[in-house]
Amino acid sequence: MQAIEVFPRSDNEANLQFNADGSLRHLLTLKGLNRSLLVDLLDHAQQYVTAPGEATIHNQSLDGRTVANLFFEPSTRTRASFDLAAKRLGADVLNLDVNTSSRKKGESILDTIYTLQAMQVDVMVVRDASSGVPAYIARHVNEHVSILNAGEADVSHPTQGLLDLLTIRQRKGQFKDLTVAIVGDIMHSRVARSAAEGLNTLGVGSLRLISPSALAPDPDEMPYATLHDNLDEGLRDADVVMALRIQRERIDSLEGIPGSDEYFANYGISTERMQNAADDAIVMHPGPMNRGIEIESALADSPASAITQQVANGVAVRMAVLERVSQAMESR
Ligand code: CP
Repeated sequence: MQAIEVFPRSDNEANLQFNADGSLRHLLTLKGLNRSLLVDLLDHAQQYVTAPGEATIHNQSLDGRTVANLFFEPSTRTRASFDLAAKRLGADVLNLDVNTSSRKKGESILDTIYTLQAMQVDVMVVRDASSGVPAYIARHVNEHVSILNAGEADVSHPTQGLLDLLTIRQRKGQFKDLTVAIVGDIMHSRVARSAAEGLNTLGVGSLRLISPSALAPDPDEMPYATLHDNLDEGLRDADVVMALRIQRERIDSLEGIPGSDEYFANYGISTERMQNAADDAIVMHPGPMNRGIEIESALADSPASAITQQVANGVAVRMAVLERVSQAMESR
């Protein structure tokens, strides 16, 4: 388990995200993004979606801008897709190698940020294991700089939430008549929190959070969702099923947490367990996935699976977010 530093939080983090005219300056959380802002980002991202094998869309809307990827925690999908997204929009991209950065020599996170800011980095994409880092940085950067949260402890992963919403909209067309079931380690999942926030704003019909009791969220945290510890009951007639991995890197003690075989037997999503869900239900997973633990391997590769579609949408969503914050830079 990594050493976790806690950064001071404040009540106005959702508001910190906006310019005076209401446009997006930073993306720290999906909390506070209203329906029209979410729909605008989804619509904008949709324009960048291309079919597999088709040429990808490129433009120069970020020409002259510099995007830095600062991942102080491992990533495959988020980091690669921000890198591709920024390049497809014509930005200069800096992927800071944190293992050889001066933060390893004791440089504070703010001094690292000020150093990059001096090099005229315009957008900093930040992932960190500590809660509060993206907002802390956002409060300290110059007016021209935007901060994009690429995964913050167990708190928030807003671009993952957006790509999940886009995938559901593509496969199901709407939200209001849907039952969405999120299954697994809800307690430690920033993915579940961002998906839940976005689904709630877009008026999802029903949201169910299914987990062993040791991995359940605080019952008051998401009052718009129902909590379940029985998988078959939670999956009943669900239209969308999202499996999550157990976030072992955020868990102090594994006491009370089922081992892999027991977990799969009770909470693993399989073709058989999906018989409880709606006939045309889809299966999602944010990745990285552990086949045979939270999801049956054959199901992950089946037509019901939207997992590769989620990954593809990740690039489009990050293009949309980069473009929106950079458009707002012009008017600041
Ligand atoms: N879903 C997700 O955040 O994946 P990575 O950790 O690979 O970025």
